[in-house]
Amino acid sequence: MDRQVYLCAPGFEEPLRREIGEGAEALCTGVVRGGTALRPLSEDDHVFARQVLPAAASLLAPSVRQLAGRAFDALLPGLDSSAETWTLHALVPDDPADPHLPGELRRRADLVAAAFLDIAKERRRRVFRRYHPDGGAESLVQLLLVGREQLLVSAAAPAPLPRGGLWPVPFPAGLVSVPEDPAAPSTASRKLREALAWMGRSLREGERVVDLGAAPGGWTHVALLGGAHVTAVDRAGPGPAVEGHPRLRWLRGDAFRHEPENPPVDWLLCDVIAYPDKSLELLRRWVERGWCRRLVYHLKFKGREDYGPAFEAREMLRTSRLRFVRAKHLGNDRNEVTFMAMETT
Ligand SMILES: C[S@@+](CC[C@H](N)C(=O)[O-])C[C@H]1O[C@@H](n2cnc3c(N)ncnc32)[C@H](O)[C@@H]1O
Repeated sequence: MDRQVYLCAPGFEEPLRREIGEGAEALCTGVVRGGTALRPLSEDDHVFARQVLPAAASLLAPSVRQLAGRAFDALLPGLDSSAETWTLHALVPDDPADPHLPGELRRRADLVAAAFLDIAKERRRRVFRRYHPDGGAESLVQLLLVGREQLLVSAAAPAPLPRGGLWPVPFPAGLVSVPEDPAAPSTASRKLREALAWMGRSLREGERVVDLGAAPGGWTHVALLGGAHVTAVDRAGPGPAVEGHPRLRWLRGDAFRHEPENPPVDWLLCDVIAYPDKSLELLRRWVERGWCRRLVYHLKFKGREDYGPAFEAREMLRTSRLRFVRAKHLGNDRNEVTFMAMETT
């Protein structure tokens, strides 16, 4: 039976398996197959899953052309019966323990994808005509090569989730490509940019932002670039890239004691390093008091065992007035979970 297949960060297969529950199994590094019950995508937006391949079929074949042919046979009924435009993501597991295999598999996956398109062109021109190489297509074909001869295939239209966002996400493998920013004071700025891409929202001119745990200023830098006014709070001082900026007020102090002036502010950003329970309490305080309209918030963890506070935080946000709520272990996250929430979806 076809089951959901999920991509996660290498080493996070077990937390994801536990989150999915009964029947879930790790197929290889970074890939987990769901349980036998095919849950609706709207109930399936797991924290540790960066991407989902809905109802994925598993195929075996020795050559690139045969893999592509079987994939096309498996997906043709769906592609044929719909009038939707589609795009194609060729994927491989991300396995840092094996530096050679991913490169080799990557090339092979690209060959399988090219052969898939050739076959579509040869065998069903009207299906091929609906192929869009770039974003914006209605449906997503995903081909995940997990070994030289094993391919997982899925075709599905990204479904809007009840609390905002799409699932599957339109980013290949659920990874946002964030452009390099040599002016950024820290690589942490990538994490905020990635979260904003998932929210489909940027920080805008004139918005009021509170950035807790801001030093040396990576997130603050992103907010300032967008034209926002930032109050940054950290025990440490700002880095030279943001220090003295006319729209920045830098307060040296304890983030846990900070109260915003004239709430609600447009954004709460928080990247404080603290025990997850303590960060969760701070988040709860801001949300229950209605101190912010939108937020990007990190809970940071030590081990891989207890992510209870992450699920508690997501539940608290889901029962708040915030309409868009998403909690994800994003591509740039280490052992932390990013919470993204806004008043409107
Ligand atoms: C991961 S760093 C933040 C990086 C920052 N977001 C950036 O983009 O450059 C975590 C910060 O939390 C700050 N921090 C930890 N506990 C704090 C507290 N109780 N009050 C204020 N800052 C705190 C640390 O000083 C550190 O600068």
